[in-house]
Amino acid sequence: MDKLLIEGGLPLRGEATVSGAKNAALPMLTAALLTAEPVTFTNVPELNDIGTMLRLLAQMGVKVERQGGTVTLDASGLDQPVAPYEMVKTMRASILVLGPLVARMGEARVSLPGGCAIGARPVDQHIKGLSAMGAQISVEQGYVHAKCSRLSGARLFTDMVTVTGTENLMMAGCLAAGDTVIENAAREPEVVDLANCLVAMGAQISGAGTDVIRIRGVERLHGATHRIMPDRIETGTYLCAAAATGGDIRLTGTSASYLDVVIDKLMDAGCDIATERDAIRLKAPGRLTAVSIRTAPYPAFPTDMQAQFMAINAVADGTAIIRETIFENRFMHAVELIRLGADIRIDGNTAVVQGVAKLDGATVMATDLRASAGLVIAGLAAQGQTLVDRIYHLDRGYEGLERKLIALGARVRRVK
Ligand code: EPZ
Repeated sequence: MDKLLIEGGLPLRGEATVSGAKNAALPMLTAALLTAEPVTFTNVPELNDIGTMLRLLAQMGVKVERQGGTVTLDASGLDQPVAPYEMVKTMRASILVLGPLVARMGEARVSLPGGCAIGARPVDQHIKGLSAMGAQISVEQGYVHAKCSRLSGARLFTDMVTVTGTENLMMAGCLAAGDTVIENAAREPEVVDLANCLVAMGAQISGAGTDVIRIRGVERLHGATHRIMPDRIETGTYLCAAAATGGDIRLTGTSASYLDVVIDKLMDAGCDIATERDAIRLKAPGRLTAVSIRTAPYPAFPTDMQAQFMAINAVADGTAIIRETIFENRFMHAVELIRLGADIRIDGNTAVVQGVAKLDGATVMATDLRASAGLVIAGLAAQGQTLVDRIYHLDRGYEGLERKLIALGARVRRVK
């Protein structure tokens, strides 16, 4: 199992390029199931989760061509509307094939994604919405079986804001008979990027980015070419790494427009941030000021940036209160940060972080994708060596992590 060895205590300085967004690419790859014509995506990040999704689509009969960041999918030969457990268990986003398969093939057999480290993460809203659109759905032997000759448009209301739930139902609505309205829809930028891609494929969608999305079903969709938006969470992660190390970095290929609340918080922490059309520059102060955060659906503070902010608060002046309202168990990075010398007390979904003078390197273990990012940030800020174990979690969501960190002046290397 790979580990990341970090020589901490050095300010990050330099420039790095942000990759395409994992959480925009994953639903878009499944959108290709909705048409028999080829769909091409550019700026696709080279990540393990993307590889997993492409293997899942290929075993369904989709032709997959990939040259670096360009992927072309041809689902004209789609003949196996099945997502098997052994593939789904490694990536819960596989549930995103459910809506497109029912809409295009009239049936689907998709393994229920197991829970994961950060929470149970059920898919009841995905199932409730498709049932309301006329699908006969049963859950047997750990699989969701869905059947429907043609879905019918419906007025849907999700009990909570769900990103992939909104995406699944929006994709299903594209080929349904009639109009579908999704109320309480997720407003994340990745939902908007998916809607833009679907519209380029001939879908009729309005309201993406608001909490009411309207889809008028059409007979079929056609091929298109779409560029994946920049990864706002990768962007925020590197900004936090520079903030925690007193650094001065410039990130290109990205945009500040989806990170307002994160950038505001970094400025409250004492960072100077300059934004350009497709770049962001951050100059950190010698010592950060603690900033409290409360995660919530977009446009509020993103839960995927919570671990990174726990790390920067560990070395800031003052006390920060961190409230996690999306997932029930997303503080596992706290105990690992405490091994590095952080002063953190957890009380339910609230963490109280008391900044310390410095962290000291230690061996720590990654538990989930964003927790691992938090540990890397803390390791970069700590004095001495930190060894982060199980960094396959990082490889799921951060393309070329060592390469980019080294470009920013970090002393890191991957060890077996
Ligand atoms: C997406 O997960 C992201 N993944 C997650 O990013 C992100 O943390 C999450 O949205 C929240 O922003 C992708 O886009 C591939 P949800 P998703 O459905 O869609 C509950 C990362 O690090 N819920 O918005 O699975 C659920 O348990 C990953 O890149 C139900 O109860 O999250 C959670 O508490 C981690 N029933 C809350 O809603 C449902 O049917 C929000 O979940 C659906 C969700």
